[in-house]
Amino acid sequence: MNAQPNPGMQVTTFENPMGIDGFEFVEFAAPAGRAPELHALFKRMGFSAVLKHKTRAITVYRQNGVNLLVNEDPDSFAADFAAKHGPSACGFAIRFSRPVADVEAAVLANGGEAVTHKPDSRALEVPVVKGIGDCMLYLVPRAGDAYAADYAPIPGADPNPKGYGLTFIDHLTHNLHFGNMQQWSDYYEKLFNFREIRYFDIKGAKTGLVSKAMTAPDGIVRIPLNESNDPKSQINEYLDAYHGEGIQHIACFTDDIYATVEAMRAAGVEFLDTPDTYFEVVDLRIPNHGEDVPRLARNKILIDADQETKKRLLLQIFTQNAIGPIFFEIIQRKGNEGFGEGNFQALFESIERDQIKRGVL
Ligand SMILES: [Fe+2]
Repeated sequence: MNAQPNPGMQVTTFENPMGIDGFEFVEFAAPAGRAPELHALFKRMGFSAVLKHKTRAITVYRQNGVNLLVNEDPDSFAADFAAKHGPSACGFAIRFSRPVADVEAAVLANGGEAVTHKPDSRALEVPVVKGIGDCMLYLVPRAGDAYAADYAPIPGADPNPKGYGLTFIDHLTHNLHFGNMQQWSDYYEKLFNFREIRYFDIKGAKTGLVSKAMTAPDGIVRIPLNESNDPKSQINEYLDAYHGEGIQHIACFTDDIYATVEAMRAAGVEFLDTPDTYFEVVDLRIPNHGEDVPRLARNKILIDADQETKKRLLLQIFTQNAIGPIFFEIIQRKGNEGFGEGNFQALFESIERDQIKRGVL
């Protein structure tokens, strides 16, 4: 359950007073009658149901170190969250090596807020504080089995399924209302000692967004924050559909993105398409990358490299919107700590080349 990231992965770490140690889970909810969509989605992505709550309708899906919870409890924080937001991520959990009661006290003392709406209906009996969009942020102890008290194994289920090779949650990107960037970067900085590691200003042809990547002191818990002042931007489209701020995408790490994506495609997971023109110039953009370009192109897997050396690689692909406006990213890092910034420009240019080929431009 506490599977650690690929030891070869380079991460930047710094002072970690609370002992942050990775993401534990993301919790999902859906309006009445729509939970089967979540169960079907997670199965298509290679997850297996491994635990059931002993008294409430909550299922834990697992694939190595990635845990996704489906909360169907009709009288709960989750149900009320889904009534407001539709299919949504009503909570997420971070692991701590410090006692979580101490972490909770420190968070509240530093300006964090307690959850006041049905806090007793939380999926796990650990401290919770208010997270993005008023979702529950669970503070889970690293030591021991946090699920043992309230969950029972599903008979016959492998407790640690390998699935399609997802290994841990790499990052959870948030979409914010324009003007709230400072408030949320302060939240992660003051409450959990996160640092800003990257800032980018991404300009498409017609719309743009700014993104600030916050990273926790363990170098593993990464939370990029997005906002846009353009009402037609993809960020604002999300905010309208979701009725507020929240998790935009959940990126899961794999040690073999080709095998993972091929297995998911075979199971019916739908990914974003990428024009062939993107793959025609991969060798020019990133010389000597050593990847199998026809296999990248077949699977529509994107590749990026750091600006300086062009040697630290990142492979990534995004699913179609999967849970309301929330989507997943599959990511494999090969020494690259970024988020695929180079792909925004490359995708933009590839679409233009396609337009030129079609005689539109
Ligand atoms: Fe991402």
